[in-house]
Amino acid sequence: MSERQAAARLVTPEGREIALPVLEGSVGPRVVDVRRLYAESGMFTYDPGYTATASCRSAITYIDGEQGILLYRGYRIEELAQKSDFLEVAYLLLFGELPTRAQYQQFVHDITYHTMLHEQIQFLYRGFRRDAHPMAVMIAVVGALSAFYYEDLDVEDPRHRLIATDRMIAKMPTIAAWAYKYSVGQPFMYPRNDLDYASNFIHMLFATPCEPYKVDPVLARALDRIFILHADHEQNASTSTVRLVGSTGASPYAAIAAGIASLWGPAHGGANEAVVNMLDEIGSPSRIPEYIARAKDKNDPFRLMGFGHRVYKNYDPRAAVLKESADEVLDLLGVKHNPKLEIAKELERIALEDEYFQERKLFPNVDFYSGIILEAMGIPRKMFTAIFALSRTVGWMAQWNEMIQDPEQKIGRPRQLYVGPGERPFVPLEERG
Ligand code: ACO
Repeated sequence: MSERQAAARLVTPEGREIALPVLEGSVGPRVVDVRRLYAESGMFTYDPGYTATASCRSAITYIDGEQGILLYRGYRIEELAQKSDFLEVAYLLLFGELPTRAQYQQFVHDITYHTMLHEQIQFLYRGFRRDAHPMAVMIAVVGALSAFYYEDLDVEDPRHRLIATDRMIAKMPTIAAWAYKYSVGQPFMYPRNDLDYASNFIHMLFATPCEPYKVDPVLARALDRIFILHADHEQNASTSTVRLVGSTGASPYAAIAAGIASLWGPAHGGANEAVVNMLDEIGSPSRIPEYIARAKDKNDPFRLMGFGHRVYKNYDPRAAVLKESADEVLDLLGVKHNPKLEIAKELERIALEDEYFQERKLFPNVDFYSGIILEAMGIPRKMFTAIFALSRTVGWMAQWNEMIQDPEQKIGRPRQLYVGPGERPFVPLEERG
């Protein structure tokens, strides 16, 4: 719980001093509480991109961007990736503590028994072109769930919120896998309750009704780890989108659809697909200097995809886990030589030695290595961001639940610095030159 510790003093242009409370969290920078600033000074704060604004109190995820530390409910991401599994991490993010064995079993049961989609939803898929991007399809299908679960959903009721949370986490693999199945013209595969979360997703992606399909446990474990690493990341663009939509009291399914839309952009979750496209384009280590030069050229819009982060000014700890995983997974899959991984590692080495990247503290982020692993696992490129969305659904639901329960929660409604014309009279069309 944060407390008022001190006051920050602000002197207005007129020379009036205003004391603003300073709030202290459990760890991390203190924040200046500016809620009364307008009432007391007639001024707003200006912060495009919210680079210096804490939009809420949250007890879910903590990032120390300078040190490259990421904690879910106080636990290091590296430790969770190594010792836990995705549904256990989901429980932790949602409820604040690691589950007991009984709580874990109940949670796994609840998720497993919500994985089917309403049969009618199949027809929604059939309205799309086969080449539609899975993220576009997922935005539509998840948004459509708000039509399927409308009458019985009161967001103020904790039980209703719990059911919506179970549904969303359980159905997301089915929704994502079906987007892929539709794109390749194969029959939709129904979820299998005897499989764990990651294995079930792999099954729905790759199995067909014609023959038995055995999920490779190595792939399932690697994918589960990718799910853990992407599960939450505090108030990023898509999570803030979910909170903003949810703050109006809208359906959580509509809020998650908006979150998926926000995640899709190449500056956010879309970067994992963009990284692999970029590595393909580079094609050989000899061309790396050319691309580094382009990334540094301010007249060239090209950016090194998978590099840089708003919060991390150090190595993204998720990228470190994935770099290690990439070697492990490729080894287990019997891949001796992966040209993309070699280009990626060389690109990283050269960039980290370069003054431009050093000065700006640009390091590989989570998207830099994830695509390479997913591709080696046989997962189609267009599904990379869909897998990110599937994983992040846990964080989105945890943050949405936290927001609804927050007594200080208000509808999200930023102000602006208006730079348009002042009031002026309307000129009729015939009098305009
Ligand atoms: N390649 C080259 N230069 C870069 C890169 C990059 N990938 N990222 C940042 N820079 C430069 C900027 O041009 C800017 O330089 P300047 O100070 O000379 O103008 C400086 O570093 C600071 O960058 P900003 O864009 O101001 O930083 P911001 O916090 O707004 O952006 C972002 C962060 C969007 C992630 C950015 O680093 C980027 O576009 N990276 C590539 C896309 C990517 O990998 N996105 C995934 C992010 S992780 C995630 O969402 C899961």
